[in-house]
Amino acid sequence: MVLPSKLAQDLTETSRVLNLKDPHVRSMLLSLGTRTLALVGSMVFSYLLIRYAMKHLDPTHEEKKRQKELAEMISKKMNLPKAIVNNFNEYEMCVLADLINPVDIKVTWQDIGGLDEIIDNIRQTVIYPLQHPELFSRSKLLTSPKGVLLYGPPGCGKTMLAKAIAREAGANFINLQVTSLLDKWYGESQKRTAAIFSLARKLQPTIIFIDEIDSFMRTRQNDDHECTRMVKTQFMTLWDGLETDDGDPTLNRILIIGATNRAQDLDAAILRRMPTRYHIQSPNIIQRVKIFELILSNEDLDTDVDLEELAKQTSNYTGSDINEICRQAAMQRIVELCNNRSTTNDNEEHLSQLRPITRADFLEALRKVHDSHHQQQQHSFNRLTLD
Ligand SMILES: Nc1ncnc2c1ncn2[C@@H]1O[C@H](COP(=O)(O)OP(=O)(O)OP(=O)(O)O)[C@@H](O)[C@H]1O
Ligand SMILES: [Mg+2]
Repeated sequence: MVLPSKLAQDLTETSRVLNLKDPHVRSMLLSLGTRTLALVGSMVFSYLLIRYAMKHLDPTHEEKKRQKELAEMISKKMNLPKAIVNNFNEYEMCVLADLINPVDIKVTWQDIGGLDEIIDNIRQTVIYPLQHPELFSRSKLLTSPKGVLLYGPPGCGKTMLAKAIAREAGANFINLQVTSLLDKWYGESQKRTAAIFSLARKLQPTIIFIDEIDSFMRTRQNDDHECTRMVKTQFMTLWDGLETDDGDPTLNRILIIGATNRAQDLDAAILRRMPTRYHIQSPNIIQRVKIFELILSNEDLDTDVDLEELAKQTSNYTGSDINEICRQAAMQRIVELCNNRSTTNDNEEHLSQLRPITRADFLEALRKVHDSHHQQQQHSFNRLTLD
């Protein structure tokens, strides 16, 4: 490389003044150069070391990295504008991993049998205010609920209802994983809690769903971990903020839905924040007929199958039990066919050999499910006294 003439001149002048031919001067300059290089090298090394340590000594580093990757996938799938996603902080990115797009929710009202009255009520009280906040903001009498509690025995459709609400309302659905919230590292939990609400606000309308809410919001006890207590308090404060936010409900289309089969264990302060409550009970006989009809609507049933008779034989059974009875009954003929050695490998022929589901299949399924149901009943669930 040709040095510019001014620089070349300066170098010649410097080497003349320093007398570079003198071995003593040369060794001094060499030593100076080596020491400068060592100093710069050690500074760069220390900087890199500190950066590496900061990154890898953060105990939540790996988890955050995983959640960030998942969040990026979700935001891409949901077509969230890049400008919005770039604004999310790292905690909001973590919450994003729990986000479900309403169009990806498979459960619809039509999949839920026997709860028509409750569904109608939910539509008016919960969905319309989320969809048309401007109509509900006109009167104080019509304020939309910020908390809804679905409670009742297991397997009666609470989770299904929450999902169908999100789908129908077209709301983003944060399926809150409480375990990921209660981080053992000081300060992390509070930041994550704040992020749930800030993300919900950015993506509204949003439903924050807390399944088994009793495990998170049970009555406060003296032996509660300090972190749990702080997170609960912070959560409730942020929740209260939803009521008062800017006084304009159209800016605040966020709803918290909790589901539990242990409502009696819930903190009174939480119950107060969930004035809209739906008791999802075990289905009565009419509801059971509807659930059977719904679950079997696409099945090939023999003429001897009487759904009313089945409903009569399943008192105290839940929707989940009925689903299991139907599954077992439908399975029976398939097992028979598979056990039959003469069956062919031809798919069409296989299907044509499949007989309808008969009354006998249901009776056999009932016998099997009855045994496990009976065992479960031994651990009876406390009746709730909330209604
Ligand atoms: N009313 C219903 N109509 C149709 N299917 C139902 C109904 N209730 C329950 N099921 C069936 O039971 C399964 C479990 O329902 P779901 O998870 O909503 O119950 P849950 O009340 O949330 O129970 P848990 O308290 O144990 O969480 C559903 O996937 C569905 O197959
Ligand atoms: Mg559930």
